[in-house]
Amino acid sequence: MRIICAKDYKDVSRKAANIISAQVILKPDCVLGLATGSSPIGTYQQLIRWYEKGDLDFAHVRTVNLDEYVGLSKDHDQSYAYFMRQNFFDHINIDQANCNIPNGMNPDAEAECARYDAVIKSLGGIDLQLLGLGPNGHIGFNEPCDEFVKGTNKVSLTKETIDANARFFASRDEVPKFAYTMGIGSIVNAQRVLMVVNGANKAQAVRDCFFGPISPRAPGSILQLHPDFTLVADEAALSLVKDLL
Ligand code: GLP
Repeated sequence: MRIICAKDYKDVSRKAANIISAQVILKPDCVLGLATGSSPIGTYQQLIRWYEKGDLDFAHVRTVNLDEYVGLSKDHDQSYAYFMRQNFFDHINIDQANCNIPNGMNPDAEAECARYDAVIKSLGGIDLQLLGLGPNGHIGFNEPCDEFVKGTNKVSLTKETIDANARFFASRDEVPKFAYTMGIGSIVNAQRVLMVVNGANKAQAVRDCFFGPISPRAPGSILQLHPDFTLVADEAALSLVKDLL
């Protein structure tokens, strides 16, 4: 585990974008695992700027997103499919036929999860997986639970996650209660994992996941075992572990 201390959100975003850029330059047809949430937005903005300057080419890049809310169509403005187009795909030269995301409108969870696992397999796995971290330590939408789930699965969102994500919806009642998420197995099978974390509200999760025991109660903790895991975090997110670095 490599921990990179950044000053603030902007610094986190630039450092993470540098790492992703290197991946795209080294392997132009790489498979990027992508994340949503507020944490990676600055990283995407930086990558867009470098694309606009001519430094990056996404023409051959393939992507798999971590998760999607069950019941939201790809055109719903809070769906993760919409988020990805708004915040990244519509601004770069990626072929959106190469961009994969779980289909939140498929009511058959078993079929959708099997389909998504087959997509990941057909791509030959993930070269670099970008992650945020939930305030409760979740990665993707793999919530704290009793066991690590390997493959894509349908999860019941915790009250804490619904509360945290309510800020994006008109009311708390509108936040979906379920999501499809890539499993922990697919995430840890990525060749490289890069996590971006900022803000004091993540400090406890950082401590629990990366300085505590490896446990499905703190899902991100599994990354302690990954051979190429980089955490890029700002001072606020590292505030509870600064004496341990
Ligand atoms: C969301 C997403 C995660 C994300 C996390 C943190 O619910 N499913 O992929 O990492 O919660 O979100 P944020 O970056 O907005 O704090």
